Amino acid sequence: MKSQITLAILFLLFASSVYSRNATCNRAVDQYAPYNTFLTGYLNPGFDDPVTGLGFVFYSKINATTVEQIAQAPTLIWLNGGPGSSSMEGAYFENGPYRVLSENGTQVIRTNPDAWTNKYNVLYIDQPIAVGFSRAEKDSYLPHNETVVGQQFYRALLSFYTGSGCYNNPLLQQSPLFITGESYGGKYIPNIAAEIIRQNQIAAASGQLVIPLKGVSIGDPLIDPQHQLYQLGDYGVQNGLISDKTRLSLQVILNKMHTYFKANDYQKASNTYDEAISFFMKNSINHLQNVYNYKIGPYPDDFVGDHCENYIKQFGFDKSFKYDSTSGKISQSLSLDCFTPNGIPALQYLLSNNLPVIIYNGDNDILINTPGVTTFINGFSWEGQEIFSKLPMVNITNNNQTVATYKSYLNLHFATILDAGHLVPYDQPESMNIILDNFIGQTLSQQIQISQD
Ligand SMILES: *[C@@H]1O[C@H](CO)[C@@H](O)[C@H](O)[C@H]1NC(C)=O
Ligand SMILES: *[C@@H]1O[C@H](CO)[C@@H](O)[C@H](O)[C@H]1NC(C)=O
Ligand SMILES: *[C@@H]1O[C@H](CO)[C@@H](O)[C@H](O)[C@H]1NC(C)=O
Ligand SMILES: *[C@@H]1O[C@H](CO)[C@@H](O)[C@H](O)[C@H]1NC(C)=O
Ligand SMILES: *[C@@H]1O[C@H](CO)[C@@H](O)[C@H](O)[C@H]1NC(C)=O
Ligand SMILES: *[C@@H]1O[C@H](CO)[C@@H](O)[C@H](O)[C@H]1NC(C)=O
Repeated sequence: MKSQITLAILFLLFASSVYSRNATCNRAVDQYAPYNTFLTGYLNPGFDDPVTGLGFVFYSKINATTVEQIAQAPTLIWLNGGPGSSSMEGAYFENGPYRVLSENGTQVIRTNPDAWTNKYNVLYIDQPIAVGFSRAEKDSYLPHNETVVGQQFYRALLSFYTGSGCYNNPLLQQSPLFITGESYGGKYIPNIAAEIIRQNQIAAASGQLVIPLKGVSIGDPLIDPQHQLYQLGDYGVQNGLISDKTRLSLQVILNKMHTYFKANDYQKASNTYDEAISFFMKNSINHLQNVYNYKIGPYPDDFVGDHCENYIKQFGFDKSFKYDSTSGKISQSLSLDCFTPNGIPALQYLLSNNLPVIIYNGDNDILINTPGVTTFINGFSWEGQEIFSKLPMVNITNNNQTVATYKSYLNLHFATILDAGHLVPYDQPESMNIILDNFIGQTLSQQIQISQD
């Protein structure tokens, strides 16, 4: 008798697993950000099981509490890279309402005076599935290329705007949307945005919901590995980080990478760049500690993961699941994707569909260095290339100090941020905000002009 009951329960559990995890939207109060409407939950990337979902946290613009107030501000999605890094790094270390810092080995929480949530609603999504708060019921669901990353993300985003999702509201569906992020976001963001544009065209034709995507912003991007990585040695010598002798040895490794690229062996090309980077660091003159910012020691972000597991997880995430800030499974499943040339075609698609794009780069970043990003951005082919590539960078000042350089033509914008590393919103938050606000302001005002014409 008892075993029959057990069987019946098992059957019920099994039967319910045909239902997918619907989007959830939990409203809570984050005691460290009491003036931001705080929403959490999962999005549905399109699987028929109750487990697989993308975890997110959302902080509204400060003091926006009603739907009307939230809808008045633009909405930014933030994505970290990796592949496999949790976007909670952005939320709790880079640009969220507060920072979880390690100071002398102790966790300290400090309000972020330069939070992006001072002006915008920010939605931090852990993606692809299996990263951070996100979950995958089966390893076979993990994406191996950017096409699948884009498709899963689009479905998840649609679940945010429809059904039980937080933005299923006609006002919120109008809040201008920008997708922002950094690093491997250079691959994710153009491919995700391209999928949104494609799906929006289909949706518009059949009167379905159009995602209000207005632009994308990408910092320190890995986007064009075939062209953006060869200046590592020159960069090191020009900044006094390595000797001329080291540069020569480094050139041998980079030439080997070039050979692998020519043979379309993207896995070996990627492994060879790793080799180049570790050679660079090992032979650096001052025994550099941080490949992301040569001017500082390691980033003090050690407690971000603990904060997510011990505090944030209680607000609507699966209790039985342990939060991890990096997913080895995703870095594995996307390891061949890393150096596959699929960033530039997506970027070209965005520009040919008139979507505004800003790329910015921190000048102290060794891994994704500014000379390399400059080479890529001037070198790829698009409608405005000839004029864009010849434009000089102009100085952007703040309190009479040059803090960035900048140029733009048509829908492409490019900035370098002085004295910043890979995590620009952490390293130089004020300069970051000048560049971001300018981009968003310009993008939205151009739209108004167009619609008034
Ligand atoms: C998802 O929503 C549908 C429709 O409302 C419902 O039938 C289904 O049971 C829900 N799934 C779960 C896992 O809650
Ligand atoms: C937000 O509201 C709080 C409480 O009313 C107030 O103290 C604070 O100045 C407001 N902040 C902003 C940026 O408006
Ligand atoms: C950390 O230690 C340094 C050196 O001992 C000290 O100057 C600094 O004030 C300490 N910071 C904190 C937050 O305790
Ligand atoms: C991406 O992966 C999917 C699923 O494995 C596959 O069907 C598709 O052909 C791949 N696309 C590209 C461009 O490699
Ligand atoms: C900036 O420089 C100009 C010219 O040197 C000076 O008149 C002005 O007061 C300075 N402004 C600030 C904020 O330092
Ligand atoms: C731009 O700023 C840099 C650094 O402050 C300065 O050396 C350079 O002269 C400036 N260029 C122009 C055109 O003002």
